[in-house]
Amino acid sequence: MTLKLPIYMDHAATTPCDPRVVEAMLPYFTEKFGNPGSRNHSFGWEGEDAVDNARRQVASLIGADRKEIIFTSGSTESNNIAIKGAANMYQKAGPGEGKPRGHIITEIIEHKAVLDPCKRLEKEGFDVTYLEPGPDGVITRAMVEGAMRDDTILVTIMWANNEIGVISEIPEIGALCHEKNVVFHTDATQWVGKAPTDVNTDNIDLLSMSGHKIYGPKGVGALYVRRRRPRIRLVALQEGGGQERGFRSGTLNVTGIVGLGKACELCAAEMDSERDRLLALRKKIEDKVVSELDVVQVNGHPERRMPHLTNISFGFVEGESLMMATKEIAMSSGSACTSASLEPSYVLKGLGVGDDLAHSSLRISLGRWTTEEEVDYAANKIVEAVRKLRDLSPLYDMHQEGIDVSKIEWQAH
Ligand SMILES: Cc1ncc(COP(=O)(O)O)c(C=O)c1O
Repeated sequence: MTLKLPIYMDHAATTPCDPRVVEAMLPYFTEKFGNPGSRNHSFGWEGEDAVDNARRQVASLIGADRKEIIFTSGSTESNNIAIKGAANMYQKAGPGEGKPRGHIITEIIEHKAVLDPCKRLEKEGFDVTYLEPGPDGVITRAMVEGAMRDDTILVTIMWANNEIGVISEIPEIGALCHEKNVVFHTDATQWVGKAPTDVNTDNIDLLSMSGHKIYGPKGVGALYVRRRRPRIRLVALQEGGGQERGFRSGTLNVTGIVGLGKACELCAAEMDSERDRLLALRKKIEDKVVSELDVVQVNGHPERRMPHLTNISFGFVEGESLMMATKEIAMSSGSACTSASLEPSYVLKGLGVGDDLAHSSLRISLGRWTTEEEVDYAANKIVEAVRKLRDLSPLYDMHQEGIDVSKIEWQAH
C-alpha cells in the first residue's frame, strides 16, 4: 500500500470519528429527530430511548450506573460543572458568612479546563494548592496526602496528562479522598476508552470525558456524578429546563449523544487489542529515535504512560525548524502560541524541562488507524530532520567536541 501524506499523529488533540459511529448517528439528524423532552408523542419517546441507550453505553465503559451520567458539550464543560459545582456545594462558609471558604487540591500540569476554573474559584475566595509533580510527571497519593487540610473540600487530579501521557495514582488518591470525606474529581479525557476504568473500584466521585478523543463526535461529552456512597451534590452552573437531573439544563444533543454512546461501546470492545498494538508502535518510534540520536529525552515516567502517546525532546535543534522539516507528519510541538510569542509548554516546564528542550519537543500521538508503515516513515523522517538540523548547528559541533555548551558565557556586542 502506498503511504498517504500527510500522516495524522495528533490523536491526543482529536480523533477522527469512527465510521461506525457516524452510521449510528445518521438517522437521528433526519427521521428520528424528536426532542427527548417531548413526553407526549412517539418522536420524543424515540429520542429518549436513544439517549437512554447511550447513557447505558457510556456508564458501562466506566462501571457506573446509567443514572450517574450527565451529558455535556465535552470535557471543558464537564470539568467546569464538576469543579465549580462541587466547590460551591461543599464550601465551608454558611449563608451570610461572606466569601466562600474551602481548600482545593490540584496540580500545575492540569489542562487549562481544570486550571482556569480553579483560578476563578481562587478569585472568589477559595484556597487552591497546585501540586508540583517531580520530573516523571506523576502525582502520587503521598503528595495529595501531604497537601490535605482540615478544610479541604475537593481534589481534582487528571488521570492521564494530555501532553506527556503520564498516569497519576488515581485509584490511590481516590481511596485517600474517601477516607478523608473529600470529593474527588478526575479529568479522564485522555484515559477513558483507552484503559479499563471502574469508578467504584477506582474510587472516583466525579469524572470528565469527551467524545472527540475516543473516535466520537466533537461537542459532546459526559460527567459521571456518583449517586451512592457518597452521594455527590453539585450547584448547577446553568439554569433552564432542568434536564440531566438539573445539573445541565438545555435540550439534549441527541445525535452527538448517540455518537458518544457508540464510541464508548466500540472502545469497550476493542480497547485491549488496540492498547497492545499502539504500545508496540509507540515503542518502535521511541526505540528508533533513542538508538539513532544522542541528546534526546522521552519526557515523563518511563512506564506509567499511555500506550499511544510519546513526548520527546531533542537537544540542539530549534523547535520551529524541526516542525517545518517534518511538516508532512501532523504532530504537536512543545510550544504554545500565545498572542505575542511562542511560549514553551507549561507542562514540560512543570516537569523541570528547560525552555530550550521544551521548545524542541514533539508530542506524537497514535490512533486506531495508525499503521506500522506510517510509524516507520515518521520515525525515519524525524531522525533525518534532527540530523540535518544538527549538521547546521555550531552548538552541536561544540557539544561533540566535549564543550559544555550550557557553561559558555555569551557576550553581547
Ligand atoms: C486532559 C484534557 N482535558 C480537557 C480537554 C478539553 O476537552 P473538550 O475539547 O472536550 O472540551 C482536553 C482536550 O484537549 C484534554 O486533553
